[in-house]
Amino acid sequence: MAMNGTTNGSTNGTTNGTTTNGTTTNGTTNGTTTNGATNGHLNGTSNGHVGEETPATKVANGQTPGNWVPCAEKPAYSRRKIRIACVGAGYSGLTLAHKIDHELKLNDVTDLVIYEKNSAVGGTWFENTYPGVACDIPSHAYGFLFEPNPNWSKFFSPGAEINEYIQRTAKKWNLERNIEFNSRVKETVWDDESGKWKIQVDQDGTLKHDEADILVNATGFLNKTNWPVIEGLADFKGKLVHTSKWDNEYDWTNKSVAVIGNGSSGIQCVTAMQPKVKKLVNFVRNPTWVSVNFCFDKTPDGLNFEYTEEQKNEFSSDPKAHFKHRRELEASVNGFFYGMYKDHPMQQGLKALCRQQMEERVQGIKDPEVVSRILDLDFNPGCRRLTPGEGYLEAFANDNAVMSFKPIERITEDGIRTVDGQEHKFDMIVCATGFDTTFIPSWDLVGRNGARLDERWKINPEAFFSVQVDTMPNYFVFNGPNPAVSHGSVLTQISWTCDYLLRWAKKIATEDIKSIDVKREAVDDYNVYAQEFLKRMVWSDGCHSWYKNGKGSGHVTGVYPGTILHLKDCLENIGGEHFNIDYRSKNRFHFLGNGESLHDKSGAGDLAYYMDTMNI
Ligand SMILES: Cc1cc2nc3c(=O)[nH]c(=O)nc-3n(C[C@H](O)[C@H](O)[C@H](O)COP(=O)(O)OP(=O)(O)OC[C@H]3O[C@@H](n4cnc5c(N)ncnc54)[C@H](O)[C@@H]3O)c2cc1C
Ligand SMILES: NC(=O)c1ccc[n+]([C@@H]2O[C@H](COP(=O)([O-])OP(=O)(O)OC[C@H]3O[C@@H](n4cnc5c(N)ncnc54)[C@H](OP(=O)(O)O)[C@@H]3O)[C@@H](O)[C@H]2O)c1
Repeated sequence: MAMNGTTNGSTNGTTNGTTTNGTTTNGTTNGTTTNGATNGHLNGTSNGHVGEETPATKVANGQTPGNWVPCAEKPAYSRRKIRIACVGAGYSGLTLAHKIDHELKLNDVTDLVIYEKNSAVGGTWFENTYPGVACDIPSHAYGFLFEPNPNWSKFFSPGAEINEYIQRTAKKWNLERNIEFNSRVKETVWDDESGKWKIQVDQDGTLKHDEADILVNATGFLNKTNWPVIEGLADFKGKLVHTSKWDNEYDWTNKSVAVIGNGSSGIQCVTAMQPKVKKLVNFVRNPTWVSVNFCFDKTPDGLNFEYTEEQKNEFSSDPKAHFKHRRELEASVNGFFYGMYKDHPMQQGLKALCRQQMEERVQGIKDPEVVSRILDLDFNPGCRRLTPGEGYLEAFANDNAVMSFKPIERITEDGIRTVDGQEHKFDMIVCATGFDTTFIPSWDLVGRNGARLDERWKINPEAFFSVQVDTMPNYFVFNGPNPAVSHGSVLTQISWTCDYLLRWAKKIATEDIKSIDVKREAVDDYNVYAQEFLKRMVWSDGCHSWYKNGKGSGHVTGVYPGTILHLKDCLENIGGEHFNIDYRSKNRFHFLGNGESLHDKSGAGDLAYYMDTMNI
C-alpha cells in the first residue's frame, strides 16, 4: 500500500461533515489535533504570505508556533502498542489472529482481542449444520493458506469436516488465546477525543466495557439469518427451522417436509433429505440455474469425488505435489471470473453446458409444467449466485418429491396454504431463505459525529474496496459491501485484507496517528466507477439475488467490480491520499523522534545493516 506520502487530508476544508479552518492555536493547546483542524498551518495557503516568517523560521528564532512540539526522546518509527478489537472468529478473525501471532509477528505493536458470540470458532461452518451442507468450492482451495490440509475427504468436503478442520487449526496455532467466547458485541461508539472505539460486549448476560484503537468487523457476509416474512409463520405447530439454525436433535426422517427456497442451502438440503423423508415439497419463487460444479474440469467426470488414500498419502508425504494441486485449483477458481462476464466465451460455454445438463437432469420429472418452469430462465447463469446441484433436479423424479412454483399465501398451524387455496400438511418446515445481506453490522455501530451505517445503508451499502467506510475511523471490515466472493478463493482475499489492515495498524502505531478515515469523495468515486463496471457482468442482469441485496435489478452490492487479482493490486496500492489522517500531536512529524533510526541504537547498532542484502 502506498501509504507513504500521505497528506493530512483533514486540514483546510470540510472533514467528517464539520468545516475546519486550520486556524493556528499558538502552541497553547493540549497537544492533540482534533480532526486535523489546528496544526499551525495558514488557512490552506501552504506558503504563508510573501515576506512573512514561516513557522519554521519562528522556531529557529526561539518561538513556538502552533505546530511546534518538543522533540520526542525516542527513535523515529518507535512503536506504541495499539489495541485491535475484532468481532467474529470464523475464517476471517482466525486469519487475522494467525497473521498477528505467527506470520507477521506483530505482537509488539498490537494487542488483539476477538469477541465471538458463539461458544466455539468456525463461524459459517459452526452454525450451518443442515443435511447436505458442504462447500462448493474445491476443499483444497477453501482452507487457511497457512494450514494446507492433505486429508480433505472429498473434492467438495462436508460442512462438519470443514468445521472440525477450523477448530483443529485454531488449537494447533493457539489462536484461541486471543478469543473471548460467548461474547456478543452489542455496541461500538467512536470517541473522537480519545481516538478509540468504546465497546460493549454482552458476555452471558454480563456487560463488559472495552476500548480499542482499531475495530475489525469479521462477522461474515452471511451470518444474519433471514427468516421469511410470511403470514402465519409463528402459528405453525410442527417443527420450524432455518437452514442456518438447524436442530440436530430433531429426527426428520420419514416426515413430511416443506423446504422454502432454492438457493445453495435449499438445493443442498433438498438433495440430502429427499431420499429419507416421506414427502418433500420445495417451494420455489423463481427458477434458478442448477449449474455444473465449480472446477468440474478438474474432476474425473465433473462430479464430486472422494480422494483415495493414495492421493491423501501423496499430499501428506510430498508437500510439493500437494502445493501443485492447490495452485492448479486456486488458478481455476480465480479464473472463474470470466464465466461471469456477459457474452464472454466462457459465459456462453457455461450457459450452454448448464442448459444441456439441466435438460438431462429434468428427464425424470413427470409434470411437464414444472419442467418448463424449471427451464424458463431469462437471465444468465451467475446472476444469482451459482448453485451447483448434483442430484437436486433428479430428486424430483421421485414420487415423494415435488417442486412447487405456487406462491405461498400463508403458513397455517398444520402446514402451508398456497394462493390457489390448497392446504399442504407438513411435520416440518425448513426455511432455506438465506441471510440478511444488507451488510449492516449486527450490532449498534456509531461512528464520527453519530454517523450510523444502519441509517446510511437503508437503501444500499457502499464501502471503499469493501474494507472501509467514511465516518468510521479506524474501522475495517472483511467482505464488506461489494466483496470479492463470486469467484476466487475467499481465504486468499481474506489474507490480503489482513495484510492491508495490518499495514494501516503498523502505520498508526509507528507514526503517532490517532485516526484514519477514508474520504467521502473517495468512497463516492470508487462506487460510481464500480457500478459502471459491474454493468458488464452477469450479476447486473435482471434476477432476484442477494448480489443485489435481494432485489431484481439495480445496484449490485454483493460482488467486487473486478477479478480477485485486481483486488490484490488495489489493496497493495491504495494511497493515503484518499484518507483524512489525524495525529495524536499537533505536528504530524512528532514521530521523527530524536533523530535516530531504530537501527542506530545510540551508535551501538549495526550501522551498515542494509549492506547485508546487497549483491556483492
Ligand atoms: C452454508 C454456507 C456455505 C458456504 N459455502 C461456501 C463455499 O463453498 N465457498 C465459499 O467461498 N464461501 C462459502 N460460504 C461463504 C462463507 O460464509 C465464507 O466463505 C466464510 O466462511 C466467511 O468467513 P468469515 O469469518 O468472514 O465469516 P463467518 O464464518 O460468517 O464468521 C463470522 C463470525 O462472527 C460472529 N459474530 C457475528 N456477529 C457477532 C457479534 N455481534 N458479536 C460477536 N461475534 C459475532 C459469528 O458468530 C461468526 O462466528 C458459505 C456460506 C454459507 C452460509
Ligand atoms: N457452498 C455452498 O454450497 C453454499 C451453501 C449454502 C449457502 N452458500 C452461500 O450462502 C449464500 C446464500 O444461500 P442461501 O441458499 O442460504 O440463500 P439465498 O441464495 O439468498 O436463497 C434464499 C432463497 O429463499 C427464497 N426466499 C427468501 N425469502 C422468501 C420468502 N419470503 N418466501 C419464499 N421464498 C423466499 C429466495 O427466493 P427468491 O430467489 O425468489 O428471492 C431464495 O430462493 C449462497 O449464495 C452462497 O454464497 C453456499
